[in-house]
This record gives sequence, structure tokens and C-alpha cells, in this order.
Amino acid sequence: MTSSSKATAASIWWQAGTIYQIYPRSFQDANGDGVGDLKGIIGRLPYLHQLGVDAIWISPIFPSPMADFGYDISDYIDIDPLFGTLADFDALVEAAHAQGLRIILDLVPNHTSDAHPWFLESRSSRENPKRDWYIWRDPKPDGSAPTNWLSEFGGSAWAYDEATEQYYYHAFLDRQPDLNWRNPDVRDAIYEVMRFWMRRGVDGFRVDVIWHLIKDDQYRDNPVNPNYVAGRPPHETLITLYSADRPETQDVVAEMRQVVDEFEDRVLIGEVYLPIDRLVAYYGEDLGGAHLPFNFALLSAPWHAPDIADLIARYEAALPLGAWPNWVLGNHDRPRVATRVGEAQARVAAMLLLTLRGTSTLYYGDEIGMRHVPIAPDQVQDSFEKNVPGIGVGRDGCRTPMQWAASANAGFTSGVPWLPLDDDFRENNAAALAVDPRSILSLYVKLIALRKRTTELVFGSYDPVETQDAVLAYRRTYDDQSLLIALNFTSEPASLHVGAGEVLISTELDRDGENVPGLLELRGNEGVIVRLR
Ligand code: NOJ
Repeated sequence: MTSSSKATAASIWWQAGTIYQIYPRSFQDANGDGVGDLKGIIGRLPYLHQLGVDAIWISPIFPSPMADFGYDISDYIDIDPLFGTLADFDALVEAAHAQGLRIILDLVPNHTSDAHPWFLESRSSRENPKRDWYIWRDPKPDGSAPTNWLSEFGGSAWAYDEATEQYYYHAFLDRQPDLNWRNPDVRDAIYEVMRFWMRRGVDGFRVDVIWHLIKDDQYRDNPVNPNYVAGRPPHETLITLYSADRPETQDVVAEMRQVVDEFEDRVLIGEVYLPIDRLVAYYGEDLGGAHLPFNFALLSAPWHAPDIADLIARYEAALPLGAWPNWVLGNHDRPRVATRVGEAQARVAAMLLLTLRGTSTLYYGDEIGMRHVPIAPDQVQDSFEKNVPGIGVGRDGCRTPMQWAASANAGFTSGVPWLPLDDDFRENNAAALAVDPRSILSLYVKLIALRKRTTELVFGSYDPVETQDAVLAYRRTYDDQSLLIALNFTSEPASLHVGAGEVLISTELDRDGENVPGLLELRGNEGVIVRLR
């Protein structure tokens, strides 16, 4: 199967660019309180510039009680003192832009903190004008919750308010009440928030759980999931038929897109964990939805070449005409890629991410091969793990401090880091890897740079190449120029006939310029990009 890009080579920044996610608590602490901050990010912009990424997406930095580490916002238009001030934020935007880096903010419109003044008003009485800004329902006649809907973080998604004798809905923690997106005032309030940040120079938004925004207006019970796998989080016992991905959500996404389009050159990214056929609906009718509904398929796919080939083919086939693809390799909610696929394959994964068709999103620390860090029970911070313990849902392990240097606390903080560091940081840190020409960091730098200067990698078609099961191979072709990418997903050597060409990069960084006579030999765990003649 062949799919070709409909885009022209006149590049839009977020199409050609690589996005780098920063989890701000863990990136760089400048004031010694053990938590990362905006000044810390400013200080590390030269590193990001050298890495070659084009945009940074920063997880929430707004005032918050931090029950879900910033995904519980109590003020949408300020900065939490833990991270700095609005002046620091302005300085960050200015410094980033000066270095050619765009800033993408996390927009969390589905829910607020229970400490947000909107919710305090809403819960104050049934007659309060903001009552309808959240989702309040009467108990069932027996006093139980209005529906069987479950919170993603454990237990019922309904919390009872004694004072007003109604339940409010929370898809996540009870300290994260869901806003009522059927209320036009709520929509307008959040659209104003978007404008506030775009006026301040923000280049776009990553919208948290965008597929959750609208819930069933008849409040029907969710059906039981017949495919629930024992040991998985309890909310998966139900299918979220009525509590998420409702058809009306598309109207909201289209409105958000219109708000983004009021400003020049901004991007709208949606967080969407749905099967491919539903995911692509978030591009919107006539592509008036999210520019990039995040494609998380690689986060959970079995790491076998045929499985990955199959999911790429299914994704490419499902994309609506004119939709720009994207791929994500890691984020703050999922186990680290280096641990998921192993150290050797993490390099292959890097080459995959940066040679597939579409925007690449990279999670901080993955470029230095940071591992998922085991967290002792008494050090757990994540409320998901606290609420649903013992089945491995904890997200602290992928949020540990960035390993900058071999010095104390890896150069992350002069204080006590809010999460422990991986004990490998004395060897595996950005400073050491930057001067090692064979390191995974050097590989990322070369791949990002190659992608930037190579039209085939940005705008070329994606054409799968038949191979033996160990290897995933594809061509990226633009204007009769082709690159061949061959990735060995196993530790055994493999070979394939690719035609004559020249090696541009190997994941081992030791074959640049090598002549390929036609047969390409791959070592175990090796990926190679060949320019075909
Ligand atoms: C998705 C975010 O990525 C996650 O970290 C957060 O806990 C939930 N949304 C709730 O906001």
C-alpha cells in the first residue's frame, strides 16, 4: 500500500518540526526547592536548540493544588508560584522565540480543580449562576450515583455533595470536577483563556483529554466491557460509550480550532486515546478540527516489526484526505520507551519516530535513554497509583528529574528532588552523552537534523517494503528521490535487498557514507537510513 503526502513542500512549522514535551516539575530547578520551574527551562533553552527540536510543549504550569500535578487548575490565567511568575513566562516566550523555538501550552478544559473559584461558586448552592458550569445530578431514588460511570483514577466518577444533596461528575480525581461543556458560558470562558495565552505569544495548545469534553445528555449507563483484561485498571471494566467521545464533541473541537485560527500560525493538538478509526475523527469535518490528534499507537504496540508495520499501514489508511499524521514515542503518563523496548531498541525507536511520515513528539529524557524508574511505596507521589495501587499504573517512574550531569542530583536541583533520580545518572546524563559521538543523544541530534534538511523525510510518501519478520522497512519518496529505512527489531543480524545506495545514518553511528551494493546487512538492533541511487 502506498500513501502520499497531500501537503506541499511549503512547510508549516508544526509539520516539519519536532515537538519536545517538558514535564516542568522535572526538567530543571533554578531555585533549589526540588521542583523544576520556568527559569530552569529558560536556562536549558540552548540545550533544546542544540538538540534541534522546534517546539516545546510544557505540561501545566498554572496555579493548582497539585492533586494531579497541575492537571487540576485553580486559575487558568496565571502561573503557579512553584514554577514562577507571569513575567518569567513572558521571558520564556521571548527567549524561546529568539532561539527559534515555539511554545505549546497544555490546555485542560475538561475539568478544573475543586479549588477553582468557578467550582467554589458552583457548589455553593443549587441556585448559584455557576451551578450549571459543572455537571450536577440528583442521586438515584436509592441515593446511589446517577450513572455507573467510573473515574479513570479509581472508583465512581460521581462525588456526593452533602450540602446541596447532589452528585458532581469527575472523570479523574474527585478534586477534578468536570466542566459542563454543553453550557455556552463555559465554552466562552475557556476560549477567552486560549486567547489570553495566544496574545502572550503562545504558539498553540495540547488539549488534555479532548475526547472527554461532552457527556451523554441522557446520562445512560455505560455498557460492560466484555474484553476487560484482569489486572488492568478498574475503569476499563466499562466501555465509555456514554461518558466520552460523544458526537457533539466534534462541535467543540471545531470551535476551539476557530479560536486558534483567530491567530496566525498556531497549532491545536488533541490528546485522544481512542482506536485509530475514532482517533482520526478528531481532525474534524473538512479538517476543521485538531491539526494533530495525538497518535499514541506506538506507546502500547507490541514491539515486533510486523505489528508496527501493520499499525502504520492502518493509521496511514485511516487518515482523511489532507490530514497531517503524527507519532508519539513517550509521555508523562506511560512507561518510558527505553524500558518498554529495551536500551538497544530505544535507538531503533528513535529512528522510527523521526523517519515516519508526520510530526514527531519526543518526551524529555527519552533522548538520553532515561529509564522508567522504580519508585518505592513510601515515595509514591502520583494519585493514580495511590488510588489504584499495586497494578503498575503509577506514573512517577516516567516523571523523574532530567539527568543533566554527573554532579549531585544530576544537576537538576541544589535541593531535594521531588522524585528520586535513576541511579544510572552518573554515566547516563546529557553532559556525558553530548560529547560521546556514539551515544543515543548524538543519534537523536543527527536524526532531528537529517529530518530537518531532508524533504523526503518530511513530505515524502510512506511506502512499505516487504521484508522478513525481523525487519521493518519502508521508503520515503519525494520527487523521484528515495530514502530507504530498515529497522532490525531483533538482536540477530538480518539482511535485505534494497537496491544500490549510500548509508546516511546507522543507529550505531559508525557507517555514514558506506556504499550499499544492493544487499543491506544489518547488525542486531540496528536501524539504517539509506539514500537510494
Ligand atoms: C491526561 C493527562 O495527560 C494526565 O496526566 C492527567 O492526569 C489526566 N489527563 C487528567 O487531567
